[in-house]
Amino acid sequence: MKQSIYVVLAAMVCASGAGAQRSVQTFKNGWEFTKSRPDATTKWQSVSVPHDWAITGPFDRSNDLQKVAVEQNGETQETWKTGRTAGLPFIGKGTYRTTINIADTAGRSNTLIFDGAMSNAHVILNGKEVAVWPYGYNSFYVNLDGAARPGANDLTVELENFERASRWYPGAGLYRNVHLVSTNRVHIPVWGTYVTTPYVTKQEASVSLESEIAGATPNEKLTVETRILSPSGKEVASNSSLYVARGQKFTQNFLVKNPKLWSVANPERYTAVTRILKDGKVVDSYTTRFGIRKLEYIPEKGFFLNGEPTKFKGVCNHHDLGPLGAAVNKAAVVHQVKMLKDMGANAIRTAHNMPAPELVEVCDSLGMMLMLEPFDDWGFRPKSPNGYGAVFNDWAERDVTNLVKHYRNSPSVVMWSIGNEVPSQWGPTGMGELVMLRDLVKKLDPTRPVTCGMDQIYAVLDNGFAAALDIPGFNYKPHFYEKADSVLPQKMILGSETASTVSSRGKYYFPVDFSNFHNKQMHPDKQSSSYDNEACEWSNTPDIDFYMDEKPWVLGQFVWTGFDYLGEPSPYDTDAWPSHSSYFGIIDLASLPKDRYYLYRANWNKEQPTLHILPHWNWDGREGEVTPVFVYTSYPKAELFINGKSQGVREKNDSTLQTRYRLMWNETRYEPGEVKVVAYDTAGNKVAEKSIRTTGKPHHLVATSSRQALNPDGEDLAYITVQVADKDGNIVPTDSRRVKFAVKGNGKFEATANGDPTCVLPFQNPEMDLFSGAATAIVKAGNTPGAVTFTVSAKGVKPATITIPVK
Ligand code: GAL
Repeated sequence: MKQSIYVVLAAMVCASGAGAQRSVQTFKNGWEFTKSRPDATTKWQSVSVPHDWAITGPFDRSNDLQKVAVEQNGETQETWKTGRTAGLPFIGKGTYRTTINIADTAGRSNTLIFDGAMSNAHVILNGKEVAVWPYGYNSFYVNLDGAARPGANDLTVELENFERASRWYPGAGLYRNVHLVSTNRVHIPVWGTYVTTPYVTKQEASVSLESEIAGATPNEKLTVETRILSPSGKEVASNSSLYVARGQKFTQNFLVKNPKLWSVANPERYTAVTRILKDGKVVDSYTTRFGIRKLEYIPEKGFFLNGEPTKFKGVCNHHDLGPLGAAVNKAAVVHQVKMLKDMGANAIRTAHNMPAPELVEVCDSLGMMLMLEPFDDWGFRPKSPNGYGAVFNDWAERDVTNLVKHYRNSPSVVMWSIGNEVPSQWGPTGMGELVMLRDLVKKLDPTRPVTCGMDQIYAVLDNGFAAALDIPGFNYKPHFYEKADSVLPQKMILGSETASTVSSRGKYYFPVDFSNFHNKQMHPDKQSSSYDNEACEWSNTPDIDFYMDEKPWVLGQFVWTGFDYLGEPSPYDTDAWPSHSSYFGIIDLASLPKDRYYLYRANWNKEQPTLHILPHWNWDGREGEVTPVFVYTSYPKAELFINGKSQGVREKNDSTLQTRYRLMWNETRYEPGEVKVVAYDTAGNKVAEKSIRTTGKPHHLVATSSRQALNPDGEDLAYITVQVADKDGNIVPTDSRRVKFAVKGNGKFEATANGDPTCVLPFQNPEMDLFSGAATAIVKAGNTPGAVTFTVSAKGVKPATITIPVK
């Protein structure tokens, strides 16, 4: 369990002289874990970090079973909420231990950083408690000076998750990375710089860099030298100035000519390299990545990024990574962000917690805007009695400070949200809590606006709560936007949380009905319709949100949710086990797009066309019955053919909200064969066509990898979609057979899922039942170059094998 030989990443920034070194070690391997507090009889389990102790299950109805009335959903009677936190065994105590090697303590400063520890962490070094941090989502650090000794140090982390502390699956354990930063006595501390770009034009931009300098003695004379590097690494500005230490921050200003602006399409990043010199010798070197971009929130006109009117085409996401659980993996985050970008999304709201640093880094580098939102509860009447609300009064200030200092240099972060549907909206302490949080955020970062996701619209318009925010954010209130805008002072509205349409990939129910605004439907198989006409009592289908987004003063929206997540299986959340994961996702738990993906893509992705037909056309037994066909498309009109017979032309129009955004043939009847759609532009020219067909018998398996090659880093992931095809290669959309996976070579099987919210097969066994004809197997790269070979087999069909280079 000794860390020194297991350290996988040791970034040494060397300047002149040994004392100039700053090193960062990330402790991945060499940990031991027990799901308890240890005693002499404890058998420790070897684990690597990030680690989620509960994702291996098993799923069970009784895990964190909550009897509760969800006020936000209008419930007045307590009922058993099954699967609310996914039915996974995350409650209880867990202990991790390892040995970390600290080269030197004399004249050095050593700091441990936890990217997140779920939850109620006690950090113990050499038998002495050095830090406590309750909130499992936040990053925190502890300076070890005085507690660390040169050489081997015993590190123990005790965690504990309480029941009824969450409304979704929080994960468990050291589910994010742990780092040790070792610096000279004089150094820039953790998150110790703050970059702003107060003046931005295409021709030039000013950059202001504020640095904290720790460890200096009073009046000590130092030189602070900063070089600004362009995205391609070329020096574009520099400054070297005397700093006389009295504990003050130090600000340097720069003018950058012809700046390459950070945007969603071109996420260009600059680097500030700051060196601190003492008597001509470098004692610290600190790198700050940042972007140059201009954010403007203009009354009545909306949001502008670098002067361009920009609508938030956003999604809310919880932090879990489906079958990988809460344990963060950068490749999985990249996979998610790329899927969302393909859909045309440009923003993510981290609901309702601090993000993993990997998410922010990926959004910075790939071009995805972020609304960071730390809390689901404040102090007043918390929704989860044993959750954050219980510690809010003591910890909120420290938690917000860490969040804002951690991420305020990230160009992707364009807004802070201080909370989600907090009952304080109508409570006696609400305004006090709001003002405290808002002012704290604005003290730490005056450059970005503050919002809050509000659902109690009558209360917040009446009691001043909504008016006290920079941006009023409403959850599920599109039909009130006009009214709210007419009485609020900001003259802009954000759909902080929208839609909550529910659907199960590949499931369709008849008749298809859009007549109810909140169209809650329950089906015996505990699935929801992919005709995308179903929602919950409080929520709606996507169309009205698209419509409201057309108003300039509506800043845009954040759909609930981009990806399905573990827990909160509404509408099957009340005594409806085994439902245990959400139906809200545009993309399912197996990372497979639902039909809704194409509805959003058609409206949001302005770069690439979309033409998508639903439902599938395997309706054995429905011959002659009305089986509507919808087409989600970016084209304005199209003609539908069933077995060559025209079903007529449909054009997007304003007769209903649905027909404005979908092409619908509501009267088509099922007959086996081919459904073809021919799309036209406004002038009537044929521009694209697509067809689907009734398939033949299942014949062979098909495996399709998300990646053509993997990095040999022991962490990279390929998402392999497994399906069944007929002898002609048509994918059978209804197959549900059990498939088995085998992985050989330079990689291993990591996890699997099928996107069925009722499926309680473990994610870690190399087998899965297909759901609506598909499942996903996740394969992890090994540490050495070569190739990984994946084979899927099943009864009654031929197997499929693919080989992915690892290089
Ligand atoms: C909202 C809430 C989300 C989620 C969602 C489901 O009210 O903010 O966390 O519960 O409902 O529709």
